[in-house]
Amino acid sequence: MSFLRKYLPVLVAFFLFCTVVGAQIVPFPYEIQKTVVADSAVVVTAHPLATSVGLAILHKGGNAVDAAVAVQFALAVVYPQAGNIGGGGFMIYRGKDGQTAALDYREKAPAAATETMFQDSAGNVIAVKSRLGIFASGVPGTVDGMWEAHRKYGRLSWGELVTPAIELAEKGFQITEQEAKNLHAERYTFVRQSSVMPAFVKLEEWQAGDWLIQKELAQTLARIAGYGRDGFYTGGTAMLIVNEMTKRGGLISYEDLSTYKSVWRTPLEFDYKDLHIIAMPPPSSGGIILRQLLGMIEGYPLKTYGFHSVQAIHLMAEAERRSYADRAGHMGDPDFWKVPLKQLTDTAYIRSRMADFDPAKVSASAGIQAGKVKESEETTHFSIVDAEGNAVSVTTTLNDSYGSRVVVTGAGFILNNEMDDFSAKPGAPNLYGAVGGKANAVAPGKRPLSSMTPCIITRKGVAWMVVGTPGGTTIPTSVFQIIANVAEFDMPLPDAVKAGRFHHQWKPDKIFVEEGAVSEEIMNQLGAMGHIVEPRGPIGRVEAILRLGDGRWQGVADSRGDDAAGGY
Ligand code: DON
Repeated sequence: MSFLRKYLPVLVAFFLFCTVVGAQIVPFPYEIQKTVVADSAVVVTAHPLATSVGLAILHKGGNAVDAAVAVQFALAVVYPQAGNIGGGGFMIYRGKDGQTAALDYREKAPAAATETMFQDSAGNVIAVKSRLGIFASGVPGTVDGMWEAHRKYGRLSWGELVTPAIELAEKGFQITEQEAKNLHAERYTFVRQSSVMPAFVKLEEWQAGDWLIQKELAQTLARIAGYGRDGFYTGGTAMLIVNEMTKRGGLISYEDLSTYKSVWRTPLEFDYKDLHIIAMPPPSSGGIILRQLLGMIEGYPLKTYGFHSVQAIHLMAEAERRSYADRAGHMGDPDFWKVPLKQLTDTAYIRSRMADFDPAKVSASAGIQAGKVKESEETTHFSIVDAEGNAVSVTTTLNDSYGSRVVVTGAGFILNNEMDDFSAKPGAPNLYGAVGGKANAVAPGKRPLSSMTPCIITRKGVAWMVVGTPGGTTIPTSVFQIIANVAEFDMPLPDAVKAGRFHHQWKPDKIFVEEGAVSEEIMNQLGAMGHIVEPRGPIGRVEAILRLGDGRWQGVADSRGDDAAGGY
């Protein structure tokens, strides 16, 4: 008795400091496991609570798609800067039977959008209009995407998959230091862009360990749990979105919402040496760029050059320069623009692009004007394999951190600013410095060109790697480097993910390198070849799973954030 009296307050305090996720209790500060080796199943996401949700669903008998749906909804609660129901994404699936699929739940421009909507009357780009506020958002695709994925592959009931997210939103959870900093930095932007003070804003400074409770979001998620896709695209939630639009002069209509459809597309599949890569076709540029980059380096002895050697960086950056020029000229939503997919992915074409490659100096790059590449990039990727051998790779986004910062009044979720991924005007750089033209111009119902590159890679017919990352235009080059690090430079996966990254995207004509990633000496040597090398902040947050030689799975979460791996 006296024992109980003594320890009861401690036990109560412990439970108060705990967050309940399904059957699991994840104490705060969260134990963030960066690497896991597991016999059966692995989940790697941007947040330890979302990883726990994914694992709980797998333990319950759900498959990788069930876990992915639950993780997507959980991230919408615990990782509001990128996890979302107000955004979109892409899913790559590979079943244990080898069947592959690519799901496009990218946002669409509203029917009332016009090609010049982000220009003033003199034809100048109004960059802020596509980045912040009511005009920045495309029609969200996430809920329909999850609904479609579940309809096709799900095993557990839909409600079971949304419930963990409802609980996290309703009961709240404790935020990490990074989240506290991010929310604090955005407080005034949230206030300016939202009609009422959202749950993300508080008067005192957010601290690590503070509880974020999102009652309105819990109600929205409950409507989604109860009515499926209709709980978002028709009825109460849709009305709340339309009310927000009407109040602020925005373009998304009830019809835009009710007619939104995600699309099953044929995955872009190709080989690189003994690897078979399953990637996203347009409207992502990611799969084509990855295909081109691997194709362009295939004939060169990258391994002998050595990791981060001058020759390796030069070769890879020159390949990137060429591929991103193709991105700007040829890629857009295939439902609106004839993307020359066959040619862009043709081996002979890809080789011909490297015909003028000079191993000693940069290629001529006349007339290149620099756009500004932004460093704070927030999308999120998660990778899952289940005990049966099904694999799912998902990249999902609001675009920028916290998207448009518009929180839908009464619905508690943030709308994306994906409209900025369109080319506002030929040659005008977007948030990521990417340029484009007609292929990616705004049009009603069109999807903006993406760089998201969720991938599943097989070797000798079995799943070998599940990989992806956020990072805007740096996404394909990061995925490229992870593959090169493991397949060419023989790095163990944790080292491959940790290794510094670099990025070239044709315009601006620079190699961006993560601060400290390459030595002063290498940077000078690259400079002597004619490269402009610019240090920058972290590139990407890779979540990857690799099959080890003994058949077990290794999951690795990027140490650049709160990302967490789990498995059993
Ligand atoms: O679809 C795209 O390419 C971008 N909207 C992705 C944005 C992104 O990765 C931001 N984050 N890290």
